[in-house]
Amino acid sequence: MITAALPYANGLKHIGHLAGAYLPADIYVRYLRAQRRDVVFVCGSDEHGTAIPIQAMKEGTTPRAIIDKYHALIKQNFADLGISFDIYHRTSEPLHHETTQEFFTALNSRGELDVRESEQYFDEEAKTFLADRYIIGTCPVCGNTRAYGDQCENCGSSLSPEMLIDPHSTLSGKAPVKRSTKHWYLPLDKYEGFLRDWILKDHKDDWKTNVLGQCKSWIDGGLQPRAVTRDLDWGVKVPLPDAEGKVLYVWFDAPIGYISATKQWAIDQGKDWKPYWYDKDTQLVHFIGKDNIVFHCIIFPIMLKLHGNILPANVPANEFMNLEGDKMSTSRNWKLDMQDYIDDFIKKENGGSQLADTLRYYLTTISPEAKDSEFTWKGFQDANNSELVSIFGNFVNRTFVLMHKLCKGKVPPLHTDLLDDIDRSLIRDIEAAKGKVERLLEQYKFREALFEVIDLSRKGNKYMQEKEPWKKVTGGAVTEENQLLIDNCLHICLQLTANLAILINPFLPYTAQKMLHLMKVVDKILDWENAGKLKLLSVGYSLRAPELLFRKIEDDEVKLQIDKLQAAAERQGMAPAAPVDVKKEATATLKPQIVFDDFAKLELKIGHILAAEKVAKADKLLKLEVDLGNERRTIVSGIALHFKPEEIVGKQVVVVANLAPRKMKGIESNGMILMAEDKNGQLHFVSPEKAIAPGSGVS
Ligand code: 2FM
Ligand code: ZN
Repeated sequence: MITAALPYANGLKHIGHLAGAYLPADIYVRYLRAQRRDVVFVCGSDEHGTAIPIQAMKEGTTPRAIIDKYHALIKQNFADLGISFDIYHRTSEPLHHETTQEFFTALNSRGELDVRESEQYFDEEAKTFLADRYIIGTCPVCGNTRAYGDQCENCGSSLSPEMLIDPHSTLSGKAPVKRSTKHWYLPLDKYEGFLRDWILKDHKDDWKTNVLGQCKSWIDGGLQPRAVTRDLDWGVKVPLPDAEGKVLYVWFDAPIGYISATKQWAIDQGKDWKPYWYDKDTQLVHFIGKDNIVFHCIIFPIMLKLHGNILPANVPANEFMNLEGDKMSTSRNWKLDMQDYIDDFIKKENGGSQLADTLRYYLTTISPEAKDSEFTWKGFQDANNSELVSIFGNFVNRTFVLMHKLCKGKVPPLHTDLLDDIDRSLIRDIEAAKGKVERLLEQYKFREALFEVIDLSRKGNKYMQEKEPWKKVTGGAVTEENQLLIDNCLHICLQLTANLAILINPFLPYTAQKMLHLMKVVDKILDWENAGKLKLLSVGYSLRAPELLFRKIEDDEVKLQIDKLQAAAERQGMAPAAPVDVKKEATATLKPQIVFDDFAKLELKIGHILAAEKVAKADKLLKLEVDLGNERRTIVSGIALHFKPEEIVGKQVVVVANLAPRKMKGIESNGMILMAEDKNGQLHFVSPEKAIAPGSGVS
């Protein structure tokens, strides 16, 4: 029973999501299917929670319209990238609502939930209780002033609204007040002993250290009862007469979505869903990103245990993937959506699915399995050009070209009496690869497993180089003895090619299919048990003409993507603020109120611009050298459309001096220049009335 985190249907998902959960899950599932194991791979849209109505407000539409739109888009994106769910369900389906309500009722009627009156944040102006997402404030962990009541998106900490410093409502901007309301709680604190035994003892050797570490710190930090209901109208209704206006917490219903998806799949297939969630022999594995660990390792397992279901056998959560030197972020537009990759690479090309494999390949080689990793366009190009094209693709292509040239396009025989040490060594490598890849896949080490497959093709190239079958032809003629040696070399290379198709299949399914086409064999050959065998292609069988498996990624494709990323981020940073409705409220501010401490975090200084130049290949950027009194800073500023470099040298400006460094166009920018924007969109420097010493503080 394999699950991948249900993505919120509130927006497109980026390649960080893909690499974190869906791709590793897909690789694992394809491997299990190749082993002919009984496997179900479920996923679907998480359509509840406040993320949905919030997005609806942003897009000026209804929550229903939002989930319908993004469910369809995300589902298609996954399909285009070869993510092979058995079902992609939705938590808005009646079957899911029923399943969740039954689950809640089972727990509640057995007295497993506590009912408590408690004080919750209430917005007096909007006259509503505030869901966690509607409250923002300062993160107690990292100081981010825009952390949500359930999570800080800057440092990834899970929070509760009470933990926020200076909370305020996103609906009215006002500080919320506490009001009494009744809720149902899951008493996590009662299960500390169980969790310690089950996770920290039973699974100490087979769960990943990053997962064990997070679980331990949650448990050591002291578990608190967790409310599983909310005062909200979007979600699964609490199935009780005295719970008017309440829904189940999105994190209560979402993981139950795995069960309702399985039920729907079973209905569609005419199967019984129960063994997948009750049978002790079933291995349940949750693929998730690290921000979901607590829900899948602590809260949902307690729910499952109380409900009588099996517990996860493993939760191989990944860390995060960064992009070109910075955290991927939807709000800052620093990301690569699956949709963008599909539009720019897959759709533009006939047979573009191969480019789905290119992305799958690179993302797996940089999979953030143990620590955060980084996607760079250069890395993407290098991985494709110097590994997929030059090693794997090259081996298969050479084999096919030479087989056509030297063996009449047919699988040549193997003359065992003529095998030498070089042949025998490669045969041993082919036989050993299956075990190596298998062992790594079973441990969720997808990066290393893929490396082994590529390494086997590298060995194939080396073998070909040592054998040099093309040199055995002299003046267009081949002696009988040489033909036997050529036969042996190409026979082994062809059997290796068939092996490579089996081993690469979980990772690069389109490539495996293309290889089957070249070899004119059926899917059955991809059964995992065939790996390591040397008689997969029959002697005398004629194969298709060579076709390249991969194409090169050119420099200008990479440049285009980097420019696009930069431009999107600049647009976000430079976008003029939404116009204030002056008639309605002359003094309205667009951002929530801050307290003095928020302001005091900024270090503002007077700077003196010493030099300015245009940044190559970036229309909007100027690179500035700024004197800050006792230091000189390089600052990249998005003002090139407004000022010529020579105009601004000598100007005094206000600099945000403690802004974290950020790379733009490969230049590290250390600070930010404050600018005022007039109603025509013209920018003006904010400068002291008369020149003062650089480095002077501004407050
Ligand atoms: O973090 C998220 O995107 C959640 N929608 C994941 C839910 S996983 C599961 F519980 F459904
Ligand atoms: Zn934080």
